[in-house]
Amino acid sequence: MTYIKVPTEKSEAIPEIRSPRNGDIHVDIDIIDRCNLQCPTCWRGVAALPNTSELMPLARFQEIVNKIHAEGYPNLALINWTEPFLCTTLHEYIPAIRETGMDSWLSSNLSLSPKEYLQSILRTLEAGVDILFVSVSGFTQEIYEINHKLGKVDWIRTNLEGIAQEMRAGRIKTSVWVRYLEFPYNSHEKQPWAEFCKSLGIGFNAVPAHGDPRIPLPSEKTFNQHVEDRLQQTESQITPEQNPIPQKVCSLIADRVAIDAKGDVYLCCAYPNSEKLRIGAYVDLDEHELLLRRHEHPFCTSCTIDARRDLNSKDQDRFRKAREQRLSQSEASISLTKRKPT
Ligand SMILES: C[S@@+](CC[C@H](N)C(=O)[O-])C[C@H]1O[C@@H](n2cnc3c(N)ncnc32)[C@H](O)[C@@H]1O
Ligand code: SF4
Ligand code: SF4
Repeated sequence: MTYIKVPTEKSEAIPEIRSPRNGDIHVDIDIIDRCNLQCPTCWRGVAALPNTSELMPLARFQEIVNKIHAEGYPNLALINWTEPFLCTTLHEYIPAIRETGMDSWLSSNLSLSPKEYLQSILRTLEAGVDILFVSVSGFTQEIYEINHKLGKVDWIRTNLEGIAQEMRAGRIKTSVWVRYLEFPYNSHEKQPWAEFCKSLGIGFNAVPAHGDPRIPLPSEKTFNQHVEDRLQQTESQITPEQNPIPQKVCSLIADRVAIDAKGDVYLCCAYPNSEKLRIGAYVDLDEHELLLRRHEHPFCTSCTIDARRDLNSKDQDRFRKAREQRLSQSEASISLTKRKPT
């Protein structure tokens, strides 16, 4: 991974901005269940995932973190479909991740009133967040709010200045990256963000954005109907006897897990947490069973998103163990049934 040294300032601490390690492999957990914005290119923004007041209890979070660590994930992102800094007690969740040695990530719109939120944002980063991504889509308010509907771009800059000040004072060690979501209409506002980031000593990265804000994603009702229709049309195309170890697996299944604020796993982070895509409670599901249930889900087998890749030797091993485990469980249940008195 590349490490970027930021411009030095004589008498102040020099923060080091680093990229995520093993960046493709992470678990994404929502601690809360809401966002303050309405981005039309995001399932949360169009309320395909309606906001609720759900908050994951710390004890449940600790259980989940322990299991994630035991399964060998290197990174834990405290976001999937939410704005994490709306949770003003977020700093209480960070030590549990730190104790395991995993890296903790956040991604935020940072479009939050500094007066109301800056102190809790600083508290959370000081607690030891490793990486913070700040998502933006324009430098001027006019361009920014095309996608970041309801957002205030001035608030982002004020919050970033507050964070940079604490970084220079050595109280925040987080690697902060502004992530510029690049659409065809906003490329010209990339450079001012790059310069602003340089002046603060924080990272800047432009990524191609998905979707088009002028054509919002479907609503909850339309998406759920789409899921119903597809599930009715598609039987699972995977027959384990014929295909015990698949040729390809989607990276969103092999390398990631998406967990909501209730602690439930959903099919993947590309789709909203719809009931028909719910896999089960993360802490109750064995990792191999979790892999198979998602890989064999009929919505997944009929998906056209091109994120499938060849299996590596670790994946092959995981699938082999998962199949063996299923087989031994079904044999055990057959022998139990046979022994039952009639
Ligand atoms: C759904 S957001 C949730 C976290 C936070 N609210 C935010 O916007 O950063 C999760 C990730 O999706 C990315 N994202 C949001 N809209 C996107 C788009 N249209 N194209 C590509 N990535 C997008 C964000 O940059 C963020 O890192
Ligand atoms: S700020 Fe993040 S979670 Fe909120 S609507 Fe936009 S992309 Fe979605
Ligand atoms: S194939 Fe589609 S549904 Fe399945 S995990 Fe990948 S993106 Fe999600």
